[in-house]
Amino acid sequence: PVRVGILTSGGDCPGLNAVIRGAVMKGDRIYGVEFLGIRDGFRGLVDDDIRPLPRHDVRGLSRQGGTILGTSRIGPFAEGAGGSARVREVMERHEMDAIIAVGGEGTLTVARMLNDDGIPIVGVPKTIDNDLSATDYTFGFDTAVSIATESIDRLRTTAESHSRCMVVEVMGRHVGWIALHSGLAGGAHAILIPEQPVSMEQICAWVDAARDRGRAPLVVVAEGFKPEGTEIVRDALDGFGRPRLGGVGEWLGPIIEEQTGIETRVMTLGHLQRGGVPTSYDRVLATRFGLAAIDAVMDAKWGHMVSLRGIDIETVPLHDATRDLKSVPQSRWDEAAVLFG
Ligand code: F6P
Repeated sequence: PVRVGILTSGGDCPGLNAVIRGAVMKGDRIYGVEFLGIRDGFRGLVDDDIRPLPRHDVRGLSRQGGTILGTSRIGPFAEGAGGSARVREVMERHEMDAIIAVGGEGTLTVARMLNDDGIPIVGVPKTIDNDLSATDYTFGFDTAVSIATESIDRLRTTAESHSRCMVVEVMGRHVGWIALHSGLAGGAHAILIPEQPVSMEQICAWVDAARDRGRAPLVVVAEGFKPEGTEIVRDALDGFGRPRLGGVGEWLGPIIEEQTGIETRVMTLGHLQRGGVPTSYDRVLATRFGLAAIDAVMDAKWGHMVSLRGIDIETVPLHDATRDLKSVPQSRWDEAAVLFG
């Protein structure tokens, strides 16, 4: 039988287990494929940490958060990891015919490089940030937005009781999709995203306007946002462009309080957004991606990843998929900004 290795790599994301289940179930039922579970992403390929993944191991997995295979950000092209030659050697040892790699931009780039070296590999896109341009949506995003929206709703009632301003920091290093969607759903008075530089003056004007209408001002900020023209924040960025001490919310809160005179509290949602059960939307999308990934393997679509276009699952070359990040377009920002203040 055909033997397929599957791995999950990069930050975890609700829906990873549903992908694994979809691929293994269809692989077993329709194609008679044998699956091998590779532990902790590419680390398991390099270290030869691989074990059989029979169908009964994936039972009931679609509703389970995290990944049963484990994950890491370790790649085969890191210093001393052995690159494609090491991957090929381990694959041969296990008589592995192909790999399904589930991951975000970094993982898909590694998959493309391995494929360029002749390794038969198929990708499945994953990121709660929804920042991959070659797919309309990624699973995990809907769950993250749901958790952020529920948190915003809860923070609003306590902020209103105390007539406070609440700053809620959500994930999104490079793009502001989670902030945009959860802020829109939660009725934020300001949404701050990496794509749109906004001055402290403008932020405080929105906060003041909300307060003047008797509202508890609610600011939703993506972790990658940098206020325009605020040297103090720029000076304190770490190597990844993130504020050195705490998140950007921790910076904004005291400045808003000082400049508007409104008592302000800050909540950083962090990894809560990646934990727990996936929403039904994410379970369905992730399952469909898993089903399509094993089809892509059987069709020998090496160097391709599965992708959602409208309501259809398609495949796209990894070369196209890893080119640009999908950022929030100006039109989506302008549409939302009408509601600020
Ligand atoms: O890419 C997904 C993501 O959750 C980002 O939104 C966030 O910046 C990053 O991963 C956090 O990474 P880690 O889990 O390594 O702290």
